[in-house]
Amino acid sequence: MIKPIIVGNWKMNTNSYEAYEISSYLVNHINEINSVDKVICPPHIYLPTLHNLVSTSNLHLGAQNMFYKNNGAYTGEVSALMLKEYCEYVILGHSERRTIFSENDDLINKKTKAAIINNIKPIICVGENISERESGSAKNIIRNQILNSLKSIDIDENITIAYEPIWAIGTGIAATPEIAQEMMKHIRSVIKNDFNTNIANKIRILYGGSVTDNNTLEYLSLPDINGCLVGGASLDSKKFSNIVQMASKL
Ligand code: 13P
Repeated sequence: MIKPIIVGNWKMNTNSYEAYEISSYLVNHINEINSVDKVICPPHIYLPTLHNLVSTSNLHLGAQNMFYKNNGAYTGEVSALMLKEYCEYVILGHSERRTIFSENDDLINKKTKAAIINNIKPIICVGENISERESGSAKNIIRNQILNSLKSIDIDENITIAYEPIWAIGTGIAATPEIAQEMMKHIRSVIKNDFNTNIANKIRILYGGSVTDNNTLEYLSLPDINGCLVGGASLDSKKFSNIVQMASKL
């Protein structure tokens, strides 16, 4: 069985006090759960402090983004080389990065390569918008995002793919379990057919988009899902703990 993973994407939220409070709660309440990988992705600025806090726990840290160069004249950017001191994971290609910051698959591919070289595990987000879904092109869009983001990469099970339909993010309109399962299965078949059958059976595929502790169980029982990428609900330490606890009971 693939070990499930629950990832909290805090986005651009929390102040330093809240960041510490949420993380302390998680260390105190879900540290004993070893059957699930638990990852929180706070804003970069809190990573060093939170790294000290979680370093003796089994709560892992991830970044929400990074640049693909190690250092240089890239004002405002943070590199994998810098992050690897604090993080084991990095979220790449989130739809907010794609739409608000114009990131494309080519850039995500470069970032993915840089993360891998620096031993940071990439969580690559893919997802269609509502018009792409309504026009019936969602599966093609997702396939192309995967093929382009993972181009020329010798993939292994340290890569995670998160299916986050844009229309489900922050809207309270979560994808139905049927839609989520259909796309997870499709993602696994793309990995199998275009990359590596063996890895397709090991790689973790997540669902994200309006996940809460009320609907998590519906997703976690689906055959092709190995966890969730949680946005808003990850800012509520109790809800996030509940989600992790549910994942541990599967
Ligand atoms: P919400 O859970 O707030 O819908 O956000 C999902 C998401 O974007 C996680 O990366």
